[in-house]
Amino acid sequence: MNGVHRTTTGTDEALEDELLTLALEAARRAGALLVEGRPADLGVAATKSSSIDVVTEMDLASEKLITGYLSERRPEDGFLGEEGASSEGSSGVRWVIDPIDGTVNYLYDLPSWAVSIAAEVQGEAVVGVVAVPMRSETFRAVRGRGAYLGERRLAGRPSPALEQALIGTGFGYLADRRAAQAEVLRSLLPRVRDIRRGGAAAVDLCDVAAGRLDGYYERGINHWDYAAGALIAREAGALTGGRPGAPLSDDLAVAAPPGVFEPLQGLLEELGAWHD
Ligand code: IPD
Repeated sequence: MNGVHRTTTGTDEALEDELLTLALEAARRAGALLVEGRPADLGVAATKSSSIDVVTEMDLASEKLITGYLSERRPEDGFLGEEGASSEGSSGVRWVIDPIDGTVNYLYDLPSWAVSIAAEVQGEAVVGVVAVPMRSETFRAVRGRGAYLGERRLAGRPSPALEQALIGTGFGYLADRRAAQAEVLRSLLPRVRDIRRGGAAAVDLCDVAAGRLDGYYERGINHWDYAAGALIAREAGALTGGRPGAPLSDDLAVAAPPGVFEPLQGLLEELGAWHD
């Protein structure tokens, strides 16, 4: 024995622990930077474009902080980040980063925005951290070892019938996509308890994990929006996927506990939620 403990999923536990510790600290630092660095009058800045520029600056600064922190400690790792970080690396580990998920919430000083960091080993997410600084919450998961919010192990909530389910969703930025998403919603809304549009996909996925939503779906989110949150949802017992039989992808993301997942996914297929 060399002292390396392999988990049931084949990754070594010490590596997972190291990646988790680094992701937590990087997310904490980025969250602090974003809270402290956000000008108080950002939401009412003189022109729309100037406030958006400040958000872009903060997005870039957050990604730079995270990639700088991680690459200093693990120089062989690869990166994929919303603000352009993209490198293969040579260690088999790749970090997938959304430096601000919920940018519009951040702009308007609504609390639901997050720093999302996942570590993938050989293409599979093994660690996920979603920090939501304005809620003082940090969600985390390690593949095969559960999802947590602080000390609380997350286990979703018992599944209601779809008609009683509170479903989160989101909308893309392009007008044509939004029109198609509105059509899907028009048919879905009368068939569920209600709809929530929180404004940050990573937070929506964590809310499924925490039992604050019965399910979530969205077309067109990016890898960095869901890499950490989907792992956290799965580790809390939710199922994740795309179209029936397909994994969660940029085309369609669905997450819900068993019992809600299947009818929701089936209905979304019927309604064509996977195309514009
Ligand atoms: C967005 C948020 C939003 C979702 C959009 C995403 P961003 O991410 O997650 O909830 O509806 O599709 O693009 O741009 O704020 O990182």
